[in-house]
Amino acid sequence: MLDYEKEAGRYDASRGGEARAEAAAQAVLGLIPGGAGRLLDVACGTGLVTRLFADARPGLRVTGADLTPAMVRMASARLPGAVVRADSRRLPFPDGSFDAVTTIWLLHLLADDVGAVIAECARVLRPGGVYVTTVDKAAGHDVGSDIDVVLAGRPRRPAADAAGTVTAHATGHGLRPAGHAVFRGAGQGRSPRETIADLRRGWFTLLPPGEPRTEEFAARLAGLPDQDRPRPDPRFGVRAFRKPVAGEDGGSAAGGDD
Ligand SMILES: C[S@@+](CC[C@H](N)C(=O)[O-])C[C@H]1O[C@@H](n2cnc3c(N)ncnc32)[C@H](O)[C@@H]1O
Repeated sequence: MLDYEKEAGRYDASRGGEARAEAAAQAVLGLIPGGAGRLLDVACGTGLVTRLFADARPGLRVTGADLTPAMVRMASARLPGAVVRADSRRLPFPDGSFDAVTTIWLLHLLADDVGAVIAECARVLRPGGVYVTTVDKAAGHDVGSDIDVVLAGRPRRPAADAAGTVTAHATGHGLRPAGHAVFRGAGQGRSPRETIADLRRGWFTLLPPGEPRTEEFAARLAGLPDQDRPRPDPRFGVRAFRKPVAGEDGGSAAGGDD
């Protein structure tokens, strides 16, 4: 995983800034019922998207949680008094505390912990509440560009945030599929030169900076035309899951056991 303590200061500018945050917030809010009263944004990062939730729905009481102190400080500046430092695997909230829980670009980082995090999100949701999460992040970046052709042969781990995996964990913890959306990663289309810089700072986890294999990919990217022309923006998927109320359609509000 990236060192988000170091990443915090440049995070917003390097991830599409307000434009990306607006698109993400709209897609996520579109899956959350208008009457929701309390929302928890797990792994809120700098709070850019979290604050937009609060701005868009004045009646919504928004809480952010993140593990990285620098992220918590930045988010707290945007949402004073509404951000806590917390590990998404052990959320410091009682069962059923929130009408909506979100994880925006967290699950792809987690590998073996995805089930534990979804279990916690399901636990702190009230029956009838909605969990909304981004899925398939890496696939969203593949827009069929010449950069993607070069990177297709790179080593990669199975996607921890694959929609099928996320759905299996969510249903295993008593949640039910409740909708999906797609949003454009506005401003996140990469040029070859930017992709080389990303490679060299460790964004591709199985291509560590400085290794010969990493430099082979960098050399191939350097051979592409239009080094500074960003390729099309990525398109990201969002999934929603609802926690049934007890007895609803024979369903149970209890969680599973993975
Ligand atoms: C890719 S950023 C996404 C930030 C934010 N949701 C956004 O969309 O701008 C991932 C965030 O997850 C946080 N994080 C990583 N592991 C975590 C964990 N176990 N519990 C809580 N936050 C975590 C990092 O500190 C970082 O802020």
